[in-house]
Amino acid sequence: MVKSLLILCVLTLSLGGYVQVLNDNFANLNNWVADDMPGANTGNNEWEYYTTRSVNVYTTGNSLVLHAQKESYQGYNYTSGKVHSAKQWGPYGFFNIKALVPKGNGLWPAIWMVPNGGVNVYGTWAACGEIDIMETVCTDNQGYSTLHFGGPWPANTQYPWAPNNQYPFSIDWSQAHYFGVEWQPTFMTFWFDASVVNGVVQGTKILSVPSSTWYSQNSSGQKYPGNAPFNVPTNIILNVAIGGNWPCSISGCCSNIAVPASMVVYNVQIWEETQETVETK
Ligand SMILES: *[C@@H]1O[C@H](CO)[C@@H](O)[C@H](O)[C@H]1NC(C)=O
Ligand SMILES: *[C@@H]1O[C@H](CO)[C@@H](O)[C@H](O)[C@H]1NC(C)=O
Repeated sequence: MVKSLLILCVLTLSLGGYVQVLNDNFANLNNWVADDMPGANTGNNEWEYYTTRSVNVYTTGNSLVLHAQKESYQGYNYTSGKVHSAKQWGPYGFFNIKALVPKGNGLWPAIWMVPNGGVNVYGTWAACGEIDIMETVCTDNQGYSTLHFGGPWPANTQYPWAPNNQYPFSIDWSQAHYFGVEWQPTFMTFWFDASVVNGVVQGTKILSVPSSTWYSQNSSGQKYPGNAPFNVPTNIILNVAIGGNWPCSISGCCSNIAVPASMVVYNVQIWEETQETVETK
């Protein structure tokens, strides 16, 4: 008598560990596209014109430089650099960006994520969602992390609101730091000088936002299901703005603008969670 037993069992296990899918040290700018646009088009009444010229956007061979300077250009008094990722990333993962961030009057550098052009399947900003990993303005040692969402402008909203979007500690801006967001279906956690150790993010937590705080709705006020808008791919944006509504609302910030100034971005890491299929016979 021959007994034969074959058990085929296919299990899909979510191991929950992050694996690196991008580690860009800016040997070239192949992963990025420079934007050519006037500051007025940002919706913030910014004072710079973003150009694609190598004076405003360039690689040193191991870093990306976004350089703002005083210059008459297309009716503007300043030029600067802004890039968006050549492709969209996510949804979900750990996005970690190392930058030396300029501080000074009129400067508004930012590391953030929004669909390029400000529109996706959920509609125009802010129904499309915006993840502000790091923003800072003027001369102080503060940093900010914020989510923008809701309906198309002017029905947009955000979380947290100032001052709760401010880092709970001050930053030494004379040093380069990692600014990160762990983007998950149920939460966004912003990180400072974090790294992935054995598949897990370790570092200083800035703040964590549960998905129950965000939503997306169309122009009729109908909410989309699930954790929209933060459940579709989006672009990464790096820029240095000059002037504009936020910095110029701060007393003294928009006089004696601190240019020339550069944001130097050394490293962009993207980590995605592994899903391993284990076959047992
Ligand atoms: C450039 O500077 C002039 C003089 O201060 C000012 O009138 C003008 O509005 C500025 N242009 C822009 C686009 O900010
Ligand atoms: C908004 O969503 C509702 C529900 O899906 C739909 O009936 C309505 O047509 C949508 N309105 C617009 C302007 O897209």
